[in-house]
Amino acid sequence: MNSIQGKRVLLTGATGGIGKAMLQLLLVSGAEVVVTGRDETALNQLASAAQGRVYPFAADLNDEQNRQALYALCAAAGDIDILINNAGISQFSAHTEQDFAALLTTNLLSPMQLTQLFMPMLKQRAGTVLNVGSTFGSIGYAGFSGYCASKFGLRGYTEALQRELADSKVQVLYLAPRATRTAINSPEVDALNQALGQGVDLPEQVAKALIEQLVNGDKRRYLGTAENIFIRLNALLPGLVDRALGSKLKQIKQYFRSATAKNSVGV
Ligand SMILES: NC(=O)c1ccc[n+]([C@@H]2O[C@H](COP(=O)([O-])OP(=O)(O)OC[C@H]3O[C@@H](n4cnc5c(N)ncnc54)[C@H](OP(=O)(O)O)[C@@H]3O)[C@@H](O)[C@H]2O)c1
Repeated sequence: MNSIQGKRVLLTGATGGIGKAMLQLLLVSGAEVVVTGRDETALNQLASAAQGRVYPFAADLNDEQNRQALYALCAAAGDIDILINNAGISQFSAHTEQDFAALLTTNLLSPMQLTQLFMPMLKQRAGTVLNVGSTFGSIGYAGFSGYCASKFGLRGYTEALQRELADSKVQVLYLAPRATRTAINSPEVDALNQALGQGVDLPEQVAKALIEQLVNGDKRRYLGTAENIFIRLNALLPGLVDRALGSKLKQIKQYFRSATAKNSVGV
């Protein structure tokens, strides 16, 4: 069992739906948290609401200089014990070259680069990296090809790193939420989830799972009972999942077309 009390945490994507809920529980657990995102006003609000123990750093993490500056801030503040790579974007509609580049950079490359940058510090402090993946990091889902590619990549990176660092004191963890009620999901995705009867979690449920995982040190955690079954089935008998999802394709394409039409007129 690990204690979070007094630990210094770097939380990316702290201004988002899941990030905000994570921040609250990290504070309740006694952590000090460096929070990042691109929205400086939102970050400052988080810091002032917490009255201490929250240190804002506004930056686009896809920029190397920003990552270096974030590292310098954390080093100056006395290093961090836990890095939570939670920042992410999603895309459900026409996939352009720019969409793919943004998805892979934000959801995969930047967390990898941030992890490598902080690794010497984490090694020194016997620290933890927790990467926030997704059910879609294990199941390819129609309409989300770019997002799935990024999250499959993140899961692969995390697993390889876990094995690479098995002889070290650094813990590498992977948390895969299922659909969660936040602004990352467009109205079309929310409508699709509802039409398909897809279970949707609240950000607080993901945050609770995060704290449990940090305390227990579970290497992998996938949220949702049905999602856990589907993930296992997809690994063992993908043809069954092809058929199950194939039967929903008409509905998925209906929402996909509506999202694509909306994006193409710049709404
Ligand atoms: N909600 C779901 O259904 C769901 C399901 C499975 C997994 N997840 C994963 O959970 C994580 C959190 O998602 P969420 O639902 O909380 O989404 P969200 O509400 O849209 O929040 C995303 C966060 O990422 C930050 N971010 C995005 N691009 C960034 C960049 N280039 N540089 C710095 N920060 C950046 C955003 O901050 P700014 O916009 O201010 O930069 C925001 O704080 C993501 O990794 C997502 O893939 C979500």
